[in-house]
Parts: sequence; structure tokens; C-alpha cells
Amino acid sequence: MRTAVGIDLGGTFIKGAIVDEAGTIVIKEEIPTHAERGPSDILRRIEELARVLIERSGVELTDCAGVGIGVPGFIDTEAGVAVEVINIGWKNVFVRDPLTESLGLPVYMENDANAAALGEAFAGAGKGCESALCITLGTGVGGGVILEGKVLRGASHMAGEIGHIVLYPEGAPCNCGHRGCLETVSSATGVVRLARERMARGEQTELQSENLTAADVFATAVRGDALAQAVVAEATEVLGRGLAIAANIVNPVAIVVGGGMARAGDALFTPLREAFSRYALERVAAVAKIVPATLGNDAGVVGASKLALFP
Ligand code: BGC
Repeated sequence: MRTAVGIDLGGTFIKGAIVDEAGTIVIKEEIPTHAERGPSDILRRIEELARVLIERSGVELTDCAGVGIGVPGFIDTEAGVAVEVINIGWKNVFVRDPLTESLGLPVYMENDANAAALGEAFAGAGKGCESALCITLGTGVGGGVILEGKVLRGASHMAGEIGHIVLYPEGAPCNCGHRGCLETVSSATGVVRLARERMARGEQTELQSENLTAADVFATAVRGDALAQAVVAEATEVLGRGLAIAANIVNPVAIVVGGGMARAGDALFTPLREAFSRYALERVAAVAKIVPATLGNDAGVVGASKLALFP
């Protein structure tokens, strides 16, 4: 069976996998991103990761359709360039051609959340859905819109950028240059920021500021910690509002939630569903099921591989 390499470049980890035509992962691996080392170091390690995966899987190079990469920002697929990747500080980085040359395989790019949406539509919770909104909650908040099995790209490949819906014009600065974007509050980074702000104001909590993660905040909220509960309430309230805005436009049958923060499970999904139904139109909310990504954190690599398997 034909296979392809799927790469999901994230703010914290670079995930890679060999995926077959049925959407099944043959082998996977992840390495730290080390965003501070800059684009050429990251591209070199993506190349190495792809090679190691191909070698370890025993796949013949002739059976490998190529490499698909999900990039966590604004991209130009015609030029093969990552135009702006705010959460890892890239501007105008040539991705496709250097990797095509060094790997000797065709390389395809997509926005990371669009890739995750493709993955879910290919082999996950979005399978068979005529319309779906897929979001990823991680370093940023990504969004992808699936319509009739295809990902909506828009005029400048920016469709689905839900993380940059401005919900608080006077809010915290976002890496995109605006203030109060959804992702300043409802991403894993946003959740940690909200918790630290409350801790700095002297609110009592069992959370420790050092190495604090969004997972800690959700777990501590479940144990009844008031500060953590207030942060979860704010992050899910704002996310529910953002999703309602997007859903009123797309009217999807499913809202698929993936990314690392989706692992919080009911602690995230219960208040999120409540907030969403407060803000979405009733007929929109009635059909839009908010579900966890079936592929979980693998949605990105599966979707990225699909770019190469079915170009
Ligand atoms: C970027 C999106 C990306 C998301 C998740 C956002 O800040 O603008 O393009 O999909 O983060 O990585």
C-alpha cells in the first residue's frame, strides 16, 4: 500500500508519522520544536525526522508518495512559503522547495489546523460530515473549515483563522499584532497566562507558577481549586463565543476539537458546550455537535500525509 510522511510542526513539538492510504499510522515519532533555534535548524530536523521515519518503517522510497507538512501559521502554498508563523516567530520562510530538494520527494504544505481538519475528515470524527469546523487548542487556537469533504482555503489561504477573532479589543496583546484575540484567552498559552495573572494578584491556589501547564489548570479545577475553576470558566466562555460566531456562519454538523488541550476531556467539553449553546443561534446549536477529535493529537500528521497521498 502507498504511504506518505505527515509532519505536524507545533509550537512545542514536531510530530511525524508514516501514514498509509487508509489513513492508518504505520509509525510515529515526535521531537521538541526548539523554536528559539530558528527556521533552518527546524527544517533540518524535519528533514532528519522524515528520513528516520521512512527508514524505520521499512517503506520503499518508491512507495512513499511524499511529505505533507502542517505549518502553524499563515502560508502561501503556491510559493511554498510560510509567510508568518507568529507563535514560532517565522517570517517568509521557504519550506517546500528546500525540503523537496534535500529529501528528493514531493513536499506539500498546509496550515496545521487545516491539516488536522483534513485528518479528521479523512479518518476521524469529521468522516462523512458534509460540513465541519475543526479547531486545535495548543500554543495557539487553530481552525479549519470542511465543506463537502474539502478544506476551505479562502482567497489568501486564511479561511478558518478562528484564533484571531478579536473578542476583547482592549485585551491582551496577541502575537498577530492585534489585541484580545480568542487565542490570547482560550489556547493552552492563554490559560496559563490567565492563571499566572490571577496568581500575581494574590489569589489563593494550589497551582505552582513554575512550569505551569494548561493541563495542570484543568486538573486542579476538577479538584475544586477556585482560581483554576475561574480560569477554565473564562477560557471556555470565550471559546464558546468564538465558536458560536464561526458556527453561525458555517452551520456545521460537527465541531471537532483537537490539540493538546482537548485532552482535558469533560473539564473542557462540558462548560464549552454550555457556553456555545448560550451564544449560537438555536437552529445552529441544535445540529452542531461539539466532539473531541477522534484522532486526538494525530489528526495533524494524518491530514498532512493526505496532502501527499491524494494531492
Ligand atoms: C495561527 C494559526 C494556527 C494556530 C494553531 C494560530 O496562532 O494563526 O494559523 O493554525 O495558531 O497553531
